[in-house]
Amino acid sequence: MRMGPHGMLPGDAKAIAGVKVRGSSMKRVAQFAKPYRWSIAGFLISILLAAVAALVPPLLFRTIVDQAIPEADKRKIVWLTIILVTAAVLDAVLQIIQRWYSARIGEGLIYDLRVALFDKVQNMPIAFFSRTQTGALISRLNNDVVGAQTAVTGTLGSVVSNVVVLGTTLAAMLTLEWRLTVLSLVVLPVFIIPARRVGVRLQDISREQMGLNAGMNTQMTERFNVSGALLVKLFGRHKDEVRAFSGRASRVRDIGITSAMYGRVFFVALGLVGALGAVAIYGIGAFMVVSGGITIGTLVAMATFVQRIYQPLTGLTNARLEVMTALVSFERVFEVLDAPVAIADRAGAVELENTRGNIDFDNVVFRYPPGASVSIASLEASGVMSGTDPDTDVLRGVSLQIRAGETVAIVGTSGAGKTTLAGLVARLYDVTSGAVRIDGHDVRDLTLNSLRACIGVVSQDPHMFHETIKENLLYAKPNATEAEMIAACTAAHIHDVVAGLADGYNTVVGERGYRLSGGEKQRLAIARLLLKNPAVMILDEATSHLDNESEALVQAALDNAMHNRTSIVIAHRLSTIRDADRIVVLDEGVVVEQGTHEELMIRDGFYAAQIRAGGTALQG
Ligand SMILES: Nc1ncnc2c1ncn2[C@@H]1O[C@H](COP(=O)(O)OP(=O)(O)O)[C@@H](O)[C@H]1O
Ligand SMILES: [Mg+2]
Repeated sequence: MRMGPHGMLPGDAKAIAGVKVRGSSMKRVAQFAKPYRWSIAGFLISILLAAVAALVPPLLFRTIVDQAIPEADKRKIVWLTIILVTAAVLDAVLQIIQRWYSARIGEGLIYDLRVALFDKVQNMPIAFFSRTQTGALISRLNNDVVGAQTAVTGTLGSVVSNVVVLGTTLAAMLTLEWRLTVLSLVVLPVFIIPARRVGVRLQDISREQMGLNAGMNTQMTERFNVSGALLVKLFGRHKDEVRAFSGRASRVRDIGITSAMYGRVFFVALGLVGALGAVAIYGIGAFMVVSGGITIGTLVAMATFVQRIYQPLTGLTNARLEVMTALVSFERVFEVLDAPVAIADRAGAVELENTRGNIDFDNVVFRYPPGASVSIASLEASGVMSGTDPDTDVLRGVSLQIRAGETVAIVGTSGAGKTTLAGLVARLYDVTSGAVRIDGHDVRDLTLNSLRACIGVVSQDPHMFHETIKENLLYAKPNATEAEMIAACTAAHIHDVVAGLADGYNTVVGERGYRLSGGEKQRLAIARLLLKNPAVMILDEATSHLDNESEALVQAALDNAMHNRTSIVIAHRLSTIRDADRIVVLDEGVVVEQGTHEELMIRDGFYAAQIRAGGTALQG
């Protein structure tokens, strides 16, 4: 139940050292614990009862030795034995009850924190995900929540039980024989002072251990995925990888040995003190018995009690450390829960309904947000906010009206700001100044759900979850019928391919599933969008890395998809952009020219120059 330093996590080594626990955190912890107050009460009461029950046996031993044996009272012996057995059984039952409560509280808290974190993370803007280390984030949900709940169950439980056991035992001892009690406490400082030192050192070792383990894990996760494994093989770096790994693993081994030794020394010393305490009681106590100061029964009881005070005493000396460790986990959870959500529904946001698909960029200026406003430093690779904050405007005053149903191609050199511009329509980011409007509504005044329901994006490399094709398709429309699904796939020119697979629509795709070709995956993504049926389509380099043959198929699918919708097409191939109603040329964040292909060729400006040069510069 006690968790100690091992509950903390990779990458956290520094975090523990640096963080000061704030008083306000205690209040928040209390809030999270509130739903469990009755369970916590039950938990603490069972601890209390167990501590009291534990006092019974030594006292009864005393009665047996001092009264029942000298009086040769067999009935008394039988009765005392029955009571002793009952006390032992009661103790066992109380232990089970205690564990039941602590498990309910602990697992309940883990559940609450996990669900709250998952919900929160889903709400974070895309900029957060582009900066955050996924591993660090997952470790918050997996491990920190476990560390956090130990603040309530483990640490609270051990502190309370130590205080209660110590208090009751010392009270019993003092009542029985105060001089022997004082004697047994005299040996303590000799042990407690070094014990504190060892405790702190153990904590340091654990942190170092976690850091080393994290390094080892990172190497493994990086090398064990398909692309990493491929890289190692193709560059023939197998031996070097093993060498690097064995270097890391050997440090883990060495520190493991150090940690084991420190831990053992600690417990051996604790056992030694206990043994010495008992010896001192028997040694001095025996003289007192001989001189008639105390009875043999008192001596036996005292020797039993003394064993019970050293463990809680050392436990309490390290309690502060333990509480801090557990609270740091809580703070790391709060850090994520409290992160500002840069993109959220504003109060009174309205639903976008009956979308026609007029899009209006009104003097849009955009600069990527600084890291601190979207990200959490401790979740970034280096543990600090990395990189310099963007200091140039990516879009420098773009004004552009797109009519409902129009197909607009956006062209421009790589880095011109095309993807950024398209992202603003779906409100992946908020404009720095100016506004993006859909059907006259500023996108910031609309609910995110209704806004995104009306926008479909096809990018260069669409993502499929590691699930069946059917599940991936239904992600867009969970209640779609089989017929709708097949119609969408037929329009996207992918139905025949899917139908030809052994498992058909039940084929598992995704990173580790059936390997769809680039063009097939693209068409499947288009089918998914057709099910979603958005009013606005954004194609960002959707066909750029496909060969001519797959491009033709995807293009055919796209033509179906773009039919009757407002479409923004970002592309560099002449074949893709030529048929657009209008071509908009973006350069360094401003619209430099626009018109149909013919108009722009006649104009003989930027566009015409690029086309004549072979269109190579018009790449994304
Ligand atoms: N997440 C980001 N954070 C900071 N700068 C970015 C980010 N994404 C893109 N940029 C910068 O914005 C500029 C425009 O990028 P982008 O819109 O992707 O161009 P395009 O799609 O036209 O190639 C580039 O200079 C790029 O470096
Ligand atoms: Mg781009």
